[in-house]
Amino acid sequence: MKNKKFYINTIGCQMNVYDSEQIAERLQRIGFVMENRVEDADLVIVNTCSIREKAEQKAFSFLGRLAKMKREKPRLMVGVCGCVAQQEGQKIVERMPYVDFVLGTQAIERLPAAIERIERQRCRIVDVNMAQEIQETADIPTCGNPHEISRFVTIMRGCDNYCTYCVVPYVRGRETSREPENIISEIKSLVANGVREITLLGQNVNSYGQKQGLCDFPTLLKRINDVEGLLRLRFTTSHPKDLSDGLIAAFRSMEKLCHHIHLPVQSGSNDVLARMNRRYTREKYLEMVANLREACPEIAITSDIIVGFPGETSEDFEQTKALIRQVEFDSLFAFIYSDRPNAPSGRFKGKVTEKEKKQRLQDVFDLQTGITQKIHASMKGTIKEVLVEGTSKKQVAENQGRAIDAVQWTGRTSGNKIVNFIQNHVSHVDTGIQVGEMVRVRIEKTFPHSLRGSLITGDSGHSLAKGDESYAA
Ligand code: 5AD
Ligand code: SF4
Repeated sequence: MKNKKFYINTIGCQMNVYDSEQIAERLQRIGFVMENRVEDADLVIVNTCSIREKAEQKAFSFLGRLAKMKREKPRLMVGVCGCVAQQEGQKIVERMPYVDFVLGTQAIERLPAAIERIERQRCRIVDVNMAQEIQETADIPTCGNPHEISRFVTIMRGCDNYCTYCVVPYVRGRETSREPENIISEIKSLVANGVREITLLGQNVNSYGQKQGLCDFPTLLKRINDVEGLLRLRFTTSHPKDLSDGLIAAFRSMEKLCHHIHLPVQSGSNDVLARMNRRYTREKYLEMVANLREACPEIAITSDIIVGFPGETSEDFEQTKALIRQVEFDSLFAFIYSDRPNAPSGRFKGKVTEKEKKQRLQDVFDLQTGITQKIHASMKGTIKEVLVEGTSKKQVAENQGRAIDAVQWTGRTSGNKIVNFIQNHVSHVDTGIQVGEMVRVRIEKTFPHSLRGSLITGDSGHSLAKGDESYAA
């Protein structure tokens, strides 16, 4: 398979981004090379998501494009991986004669063997086998793009929570945590390759290690916090029902742990939360927010909201809006409810009309936009510690064909806000800043989705010690 080119289209969450890296690594090991143009690839894989109807439609519309490509290039190999592959399995090959293989969420390590068999026997393969308990995943450290300073590392797979709207337990299987040693060694090898920020991934990281009697999540964090050369540590997602005091305390005590938590609330109505099987109340959630802010006053809190869950009345929705106003999230992801295969809420009564769902989504969006703008405006004049991720796209385009005397850099604060900042009068000899470096930026202008500022130079500028990231200038 020397020099055959592969292209991967990744749809969905960060877990899929990580899985696509795993797929890429395995393909490279058997001689494939990565290709950025789908038209030039010999193998095209779509790594699918089925969390909401829209994500699934996206996969099928891309597959439609591939059908056309395969008519023009019959030797093109087409594969479907991820959650839709797991969910639909055999049906995909029956409906789509141009698909060569369908590999479910637990079959990534069998991908090289599957490709080899297809090449040899010109057959088609469906592998959606799921173990009751996933064995320790044979994740292999990926080197990825050497310029990337921020990477994801999966610490657990699957989910046992069975929120009634959610397809994840059916397509990703039972919750299984990876051994801490394997996680640490993967992180060490990424850091040795220049990575400075790690985001730990799991459907519910707060229950890490519990089922298998491994260490708990705060202990794992502490061990990663001690990895030399790593500057920042993040994690996602936390289920509020399992948010422990130990984790809250970690925000106070671990200097690399970023001041941000994504804590999906889904609804502000206790009735809806109960029917979602979330196992916490709005009061409990608000208490957790208060505890987090007490431990770490500047913590950024973000969340997920579902609008139009079956039976959600306008009073329920008012409760959600009231909770959003009370918490003042830094940002929110809001989603229109959609029925998912196997998810019990598909059979619940009291469906909300599409029109009403759209209106509620717009209301959440308008409400949150105002809150985010207010939070961003309050940051004007403060100094933030920023991990430099690269030059911003806009500036690169603006600079084409022109001499550069100011470079616009981009990075993120500990609270996960994007900051673009200018470094003036850069000579071609010394560009000053390096990707992966921690710098200080004074925030001067704020936008709904980003902040803009200027670099603080001098002794207090570059490579400062880690510590509190926000204080008035
Ligand atoms: N409909 C709409 N949103 C959903 N989510 C999960 N399942 C559904 C569904 N059936 C949202 C939740 C979750 C996020 C990843 O996706 O808000 O936190
Ligand atoms: Fe889905 Fe709930 Fe598990 Fe999250 S915790 S993946 S919403 S079942």
